[in-house]
Amino acid sequence: MNTACRLHEVGLELPDPDATERLGAVLAHALPEGPPALVLALEGDLGAGKSSLARALLRTLGVQGPIRSPTYTLVEPYPTARGSCLHLDLYRLADPAELDGLGLDEHYPADALWLVEWPDRGGSLLPPPDLVLGLVHAGPGRRARLSAHSPRGELWLRDARLDELRCKGDSASR
Ligand SMILES: Nc1ncnc2c1ncn2[C@@H]1O[C@H](COP(=O)(O)OP(=O)(O)O)[C@@H](O)[C@H]1O
Ligand SMILES: [Mg+2]
Repeated sequence: MNTACRLHEVGLELPDPDATERLGAVLAHALPEGPPALVLALEGDLGAGKSSLARALLRTLGVQGPIRSPTYTLVEPYPTARGSCLHLDLYRLADPAELDGLGLDEHYPADALWLVEWPDRGGSLLPPPDLVLGLVHAGPGRRARLSAHSPRGELWLRDARLDELRCKGDSASR
């Protein structure tokens, strides 16, 4: 990793969809040993690349077959060799209370890996994020900002091999 970047916040240029997918793969490879017990919040407008990144991460964890968008179901669970993964897309959530109806607490282990698109719509009913990935349009590509929000998120970010992805350094740091 470019040492000019502070560990708790890293900016990256993602010039094409392949770069977004590589970032997803890098994050999958960097997951700590044992059950993930991590929440990755995926922020950004429609078309920013959130689902692309989530799909690449899940594929890298060995998920085969279709990876459906959870736009209508709100949540899609994936058992993986690394434990349970949940892909949520809360864009259509009208009220955070609707999350109660999904039975997330009862049906999914607390040590799952959560990949959450539109996390703001879940309000306080969602577990807090360990890592936040913000994606914004930047010309034909995207700009990403990764920020750790917990010690586990910091470890995850520390172990991510971002060296192949260009680092923005100070301009994106807090
Ligand atoms: N870094 C990138 N540069 C250009 N296009 C990208 C990039 N990352 C993803 N895309 C493209 O953006 C489109 C929307 O991606 P998607 O993952 O569905 O967005 P979201 O889930 O944020 O709405 C897809 O066609 C995808 O290939
Ligand atoms: Mg999406």
